[in-house]
Amino acid sequence: MKKLIVINGPNLNLLGKREPEIYGSKTFTEYYEELKSKFPDTELEYFQSNIEGEIINKLHEVGFNYDGIILNAAAYTHTSVGIGDAVKGISTPVVEVHISNVHSREDFRHVSYIAGNAKGVISGFGLNSYVLAIQSFL
Ligand code: DQA
Repeated sequence: MKKLIVINGPNLNLLGKREPEIYGSKTFTEYYEELKSKFPDTELEYFQSNIEGEIINKLHEVGFNYDGIILNAAAYTHTSVGIGDAVKGISTPVVEVHISNVHSREDFRHVSYIAGNAKGVISGFGLNSYVLAIQSFL
């Protein structure tokens, strides 16, 4: 059984309440239950933090023994050399995920410190971006 983890970054704990016209009206905890039921043969975990260093610590913790990481680093995608370096330094492959299409939004969202060291990037398919990322590991 493959062991995968979804890591969500800052403000994604507000999904459902936050800018619903962009991110939808479902909370991630609700969606996570759906996600698990779609992949009964996969060991799936979930971690969310608004704190950059906690995301880096989690990447270090899982990054040598899990089969895949689905990472939505949210705003830190566009700012964090530290998270980018962590993705580079671990051996578990990382798929970068975004709910919105970051390339159709503001210019600062077109930059990613993660993408260059990721297995791939999935952006713009709503919450289904997470499904596509999980499928890419199976
Ligand atoms: C996001 C896109 C980021 O630009 C933004 O800062 C987020 C969410 C997305 O999932 O669409 O917080 O990662």
